[in-house]
Amino acid sequence: MDMKILVVGGGGREHAIAAALSRNSEAGIYSVMAKKNPGIARIARECCIARETDLEKVAAFAKKTGVTHAVIGPESPLEAGIVDRLEKDGIACVGPTRAAARIETDKAFCRNLMAEHHISGNPEYRVFHDADEAIAFVKNHDGDLAIKPIGLTGGKGVRIMGEQVDTAGAIDYIREIKGDVVLEERLKGEEFTLQAFVDGTHIVPMPLVQDHKRAFDGDTGPNTGGMGAYSMPDHRLPFVAKNDLTAALSIMISVVAAMAKEGTPYKGILYGQFMDTKEGPKVIEFNARFGDPEAMNVLSLLASDFPGIVTAITDGTLSASKVAFEPAATVCKYLVPEGYPSSPQVNRPISLGNAGKALLYYANVEESGGALRTLTSRTLAFVGKAATLEEAEKIAEQAASSVQGSVFHRRDIGTRALLERRIAHMKEL
Ligand code: AMP
Ligand code: GLY
Repeated sequence: MDMKILVVGGGGREHAIAAALSRNSEAGIYSVMAKKNPGIARIARECCIARETDLEKVAAFAKKTGVTHAVIGPESPLEAGIVDRLEKDGIACVGPTRAAARIETDKAFCRNLMAEHHISGNPEYRVFHDADEAIAFVKNHDGDLAIKPIGLTGGKGVRIMGEQVDTAGAIDYIREIKGDVVLEERLKGEEFTLQAFVDGTHIVPMPLVQDHKRAFDGDTGPNTGGMGAYSMPDHRLPFVAKNDLTAALSIMISVVAAMAKEGTPYKGILYGQFMDTKEGPKVIEFNARFGDPEAMNVLSLLASDFPGIVTAITDGTLSASKVAFEPAATVCKYLVPEGYPSSPQVNRPISLGNAGKALLYYANVEESGGALRTLTSRTLAFVGKAATLEEAEKIAEQAASSVQGSVFHRRDIGTRALLERRIAHMKEL
């Protein structure tokens, strides 16, 4: 029987998921998304435009279409319990239950789990339920802290002392949060992302990726959902030593084991955001899903049958032999509306130029009558894939700069100059 797979979500990440699921496969793709993504709409047999957190609508569409499996893209439906809901109807899901998704949705849960199970890579941290106590701690603490609301913030909720705020700014921010807050030691080093397929017990890593959170070239400007990312042909990053990669993977293996021990086994995609420090990798956070843009890098490289991996994840039969990635470099560049993220220019026409060999993933963009218009979030992305980083960057850059309209992108992602800076920074520590 051919598989029928529901993809939940409508961003660039979900376009990459849908494209990878349908590549060399007969699987039927169905989509639920809040806003019609033209790329997903072209792949899917049927789309349902609905909020991804509207569990009853998603479940009704799943039932109507007879999907057997679901892949959940974003975190908000996971937090709402979409996996619990779909599994009640016998639909096998790539994604954790609501309880297991707390690894992302509750930062205190994540830190406490790591501490209780003596998992390495946890920074010094404290959880506060009272703003005055948190403020007193900031005042008496020697050194910079990272300030994090406990729940989901779309990657924009963290303030780093010494980077974005001073002590007074930190105190104001804690007052503004008006809820539980985690204070952590400020980590120094280079960030990397390690994503893995997990079936509850087994974990199979994907190529390392480095994302770029800041809006502008040279890592300046406000934090965004992610402006683009790159990966290397050897699936590693030149500033991450082999033993640091091994340590990061072993932290993820320990977390998966701890989740099983706690009675909330973890299944789906586990995304580890690490800071490679001079003491080795430390955990910045875990996400319960693919990264966006990082999914576009790794899924553009996936050489094995993705529906087969979906089955292995949901059956608990995942093994490294079922997962292969092409030995190529990738560079992903997002185009975003002028003014993004604070005041994006909405409803502006854009036109695609010559994309060359680049892969195109649509995100938050309106298509009507063959014309594209910007919306409030990231618009679309190009991925260059080639034998070397330099070639991959050229492909992505040429495609991105051929787009006309009120959008911009980062020119430095995937360039040799940026990579050299990362390597030099790591050596400095
Ligand atoms: P998050 O939303 O937890 O991914 O954090 C957003 C960004 O804040 C990360 O990508 C890091 O650049 C930064 N960050 C988070 N936690 C820390 C930390 N403990 N030390 C330094 N930077 C951090
Ligand atoms: N690119 C970071 C994230 O998806 O959370």
